[in-house]
Amino acid sequence: MYPTDRPRRLRTDGIRPLVSESSLSASDLVAPVFVDATTDERVSIESMPGHERVPVDEAVARVEEVRDTGVEAVILFGVPEAKDPTGSRAYAADGVVQRAIRRISAETDAYVVGDVCLCEYTDHGHCGVIEEGAAADPTLTVRNDETLELLAETAVSQADAGADMVAPSAMTDGQVAAIRSALDDAGHEDVALMSYAAKYESAFYGPFRDAADGAPAFGDRRHYQMDPANRREALREARLDAEEGADVLMVKPGLPYLDVVSDLRREFDRPIAAYNVSGEYAMLHAAAEKGWLDLEAVAHESLVSLKRAGADLIVTYFAEDLADRL
Ligand code: PBG
Ligand code: ZN
Repeated sequence: MYPTDRPRRLRTDGIRPLVSESSLSASDLVAPVFVDATTDERVSIESMPGHERVPVDEAVARVEEVRDTGVEAVILFGVPEAKDPTGSRAYAADGVVQRAIRRISAETDAYVVGDVCLCEYTDHGHCGVIEEGAAADPTLTVRNDETLELLAETAVSQADAGADMVAPSAMTDGQVAAIRSALDDAGHEDVALMSYAAKYESAFYGPFRDAADGAPAFGDRRHYQMDPANRREALREARLDAEEGADVLMVKPGLPYLDVVSDLRREFDRPIAAYNVSGEYAMLHAAAEKGWLDLEAVAHESLVSLKRAGADLIVTYFAEDLADRL
């Protein structure tokens, strides 16, 4: 019965760091920032404790707060002053995100990523242009090819404003190729592209949709976002995006999809990103508030798990809190 092999020898305080397989550092993290054209004061987001929507005038200050923790990259989401059927404020040169990017890139050294989607900007809340009559008929959905052009315009307008990277999240077929070629035509060959390659139709986005006011007014996103039951399909999505020119491939959500992060890590030679989404953040906060979990510990364990599964970078609402302690 004598144990001939003793893994516990590698678990003393002295050796643990030497044999640790994954590590987390502030330089792996991207912090989401919400800019809101409908307010001139910061508004806290109830379902995401510690997060706020800030007016354009506060965008630079908000990004400096992030950078003070050691996190150097931000991803911007916008709440526009007005919405319409084609989401025109998403690709306006003076849109809320474009104005914020202009200021942030001029006044800070942050690495600026723009989320490219229409759902925060359309009056129906879907990620693209919808079929006539879709409100009444759940079989009708987003018009794929018409949406491509608008996503490309959105990406170019963000690059014009000074974005370092654009991140299309609309799950429109062909969006990476459409955006890459529009960026190149506009002289933005150096702007990087991170695709939300495997983005699932997830109930974990709930708090974000409150934060960014982007919930669909009717129906859901199952006609364009992936079925949570599918694993192989993520490889297909990622392969298409890699072929179309994505520099970074993202999996979203994070924790419920660690198998997908791991698959993509093994299959591709490009950086893999994971999005630790709003619901993953909110549920840990809610449990901690009840005294049921140690927030700092579970947040850290969550992000280490994403790294262990193979993520190189992580978009997370925990970025500042964790970086502060690393
Ligand atoms: C917009 C977008 C969403 C998220 C990121 N970009 C919402 C959605 O697809 O409904 C979710 C982020 C989160 O939940 O933290 N397409
Ligand atoms: Zn969207």
